[in-house]
Amino acid sequence: MEKETIKSIVESHEGSKGGLISILEDIQKKYGYLSENSLRTVSKETGSSLVDIYGIATFYGSFSLKPRGKHLVSACLGTACHVRGGPRIAAEFESALGVCAGETTEDKEFTLETVNCLGACALGPIIVVDGHYFSKVKISDVKRIIKKTKTGLDKVSGDKDDNVVPLEVSCSHCNHSFMDHQCHIDGHPSIRVTVSFGQKHGWLRLSSLYGSFAVESEYEIPMDMEINFFCPHCHSELNSPSPCVLCGASMVPMIVRSGGMVQICSRRGCKGHMLDLDGVNF
Ligand code: FES
Repeated sequence: MEKETIKSIVESHEGSKGGLISILEDIQKKYGYLSENSLRTVSKETGSSLVDIYGIATFYGSFSLKPRGKHLVSACLGTACHVRGGPRIAAEFESALGVCAGETTEDKEFTLETVNCLGACALGPIIVVDGHYFSKVKISDVKRIIKKTKTGLDKVSGDKDDNVVPLEVSCSHCNHSFMDHQCHIDGHPSIRVTVSFGQKHGWLRLSSLYGSFAVESEYEIPMDMEINFFCPHCHSELNSPSPCVLCGASMVPMIVRSGGMVQICSRRGCKGHMLDLDGVNF
């Protein structure tokens, strides 16, 4: 049965540009993970070597080779979060969920993982649940985060929400403002960051209106190109390991000055973005 479904997924991508990544994304979406049998079927149907397919499946953080729970909890143990108590928060999640990091609860509700940096060091310790950022997490927050996840996380997703609101944002590493009050886009101060792609490295300005996708850049960026974002002040890379729900590219989190976190997809042309207005004042 699984074999037939996978064959039809492969067929639906014949002639499309996305290739193997899109096929694996669809399988992951359908089954929640990539089983060995599913990868073997993809290899047989596409003629690609199993080694290449495993290479893709293990390279992108959005793919999992083991069944995952309904909710994915990522506890950051990167340096900035570590010194602010990240290990104690991770241990509290282990105790509250009754699993060790890397495991899934028996009821298949939660998978807990630890990661090295989620790209929001200025707000650590950081916990990300299903792409939703919780910042400055305290031990006393852990049970509330779990409860909140079960009852439904409030997030505004770009593909569902047409609200257009101006946002003032800053670097998730050093907290310096990204706002460029000299250059306006959509009639509002733009967001200025540094980007690199291929051999090019230059500035990029984004509209600060949430819901607008207007951009200006020093170099023309080809559609579908995945871009590396950097802070023009501290030069930290802004891309986080959290994958875009629409295309699987890395998301770029920025702090919203009035409280919360906004994330945009790093792929040119992708409309994946997310706004967590309660990320800071949880
Ligand atoms: S170290 Fe935790 S977000 Fe960077």
